[in-house]
Amino acid sequence: MKLFIDSADVNEIREAQEMGVLDGVTTNPSLVAKTGRSFDECAREIVEMVDGPVSLEVVATDCDGMVREAEQLVNYGPNVVVKIPLIRDGLKATKTLSERGIKVNNTLCFSPMQALLSAKAGSSYISPFVGRLDDISHDGMEVVAQIIEIYANYVFETEVLVASVRNPLHLVAAATMGADVATVPFNVIGRLLKHPLTEIGLKRFLDDWKNVPEG
Ligand code: G3P
Repeated sequence: MKLFIDSADVNEIREAQEMGVLDGVTTNPSLVAKTGRSFDECAREIVEMVDGPVSLEVVATDCDGMVREAEQLVNYGPNVVVKIPLIRDGLKATKTLSERGIKVNNTLCFSPMQALLSAKAGSSYISPFVGRLDDISHDGMEVVAQIIEIYANYVFETEVLVASVRNPLHLVAAATMGADVATVPFNVIGRLLKHPLTEIGLKRFLDDWKNVPEG
């Protein structure tokens, strides 16, 4: 499973990258706003520091506007994936852009049928938001399981990118189901590695080591 960071904060991205397990980045307008920096500044720096795919989101809501924005966004670099919301015009824009060879990540997906339409329109990634579904008492990971099954039935190449991840259990479920990618906030990436028994075990090894006589 590929691991992306869901962040527009270059310090977080750099730190995750230093762990050596980062495959890409997803951003959205809310994450950019949180940095307090301009979109242009964030996009330029992120695309330059990361080799893998970087999702940058359009803010237009009409097809022509989305296509125009997408054409600007891909100028940031060859690894840019354009994030397009799953609304009617978004679907049309996805079809147009994918036919032009521009990679699209369809965002704000909350149902298996939205995911089917996205794949038919030629998206490269589908982003089901599991945490936001859980928030309204729907099982987010169940939707991911349905999408994976549907895509396998019809051999769609669209990659399933699990988004709105809130905890390590979302990732256990995603990896068990064989999701292609999970995009994870910085605070959750930190929690993936942490285990109290690892820390207690390491402390015991180092304490015992002090009792080994010098040879
Ligand atoms: O990038 C999209 C998604 O991961 C947002 O997550 O936590 O705002 O629901 P969240």
